[in-house]
Amino acid sequence: MEALVNKIKQDGRVLNQGVLKVDSFLTHQVDPLLMAQIGESFGEFFKEAGITKIVTVETSGIAPSIFAAKELDVPLIVARKSKSVTMDEELLTAPVYSFTKQETNQVSISKKFITDEDHILIIDDFLANGQAAKGLIELCEQAGATVAAVGIVIEKSFQEGRQLLEEMGVQVVSLARVASLEDNSVTFLEGDA
Ligand code: G4P
Ligand code: NA
Ligand code: NA
Repeated sequence: MEALVNKIKQDGRVLNQGVLKVDSFLTHQVDPLLMAQIGESFGEFFKEAGITKIVTVETSGIAPSIFAAKELDVPLIVARKSKSVTMDEELLTAPVYSFTKQETNQVSISKKFITDEDHILIIDDFLANGQAAKGLIELCEQAGATVAAVGIVIEKSFQEGRQLLEEMGVQVVSLARVASLEDNSVTFLEGDA
């Protein structure tokens, strides 16, 4: 996605240890026009895929996902990282190991929002090692739903996430694919959409 790649080139900053800082338009301050374009790209790619719901995980996955949900005219479900006191329904939960924090946390969704008839698109802002997406796939599968694909805004192709998800049999569609962050500069592979 050209507008996204240009934005990363212009405003992305390379931090140490393979981290791309995009807090001026995606993870902290949010650029709504770019988010709408991201939603259109996912919408265009998945318009014939029979998607019934989008699932993301708080926090930074929400902004791009809500625009994709609007384009596909389906609900967005935001998986929670910590149990809210208002989540009094039966929950689906799955563990997510964070390499950056070196700890395992649970993600959860109320059972009532996903059924075995659902055909789900999972969306997240970053794909690094794939642990967040893997946890979301497990949540959907616990409900008997089908995961149609994982849609990613920025894939770090030098990490293992894509391979892990493809080995689980799930298609990965990334709007920007970062090949390398070495030498303080961002190089790209061809994106999927
Ligand atoms: P994984 O799910 O692909 O295995 O990711 P990992 O544990 O490595 O990443 C932990 C958190 O760091 C995730 O956010 C992920 O989106 C984010 N992240 C990973 N690589 C980068 C990067 O290069 N740049 C930025 N800006 N973020 C990155 P989180 O803390 O779980 O979620 P959120 O609440 O911030 O959305
Ligand atoms: Na995220
Ligand atoms: Na994030």
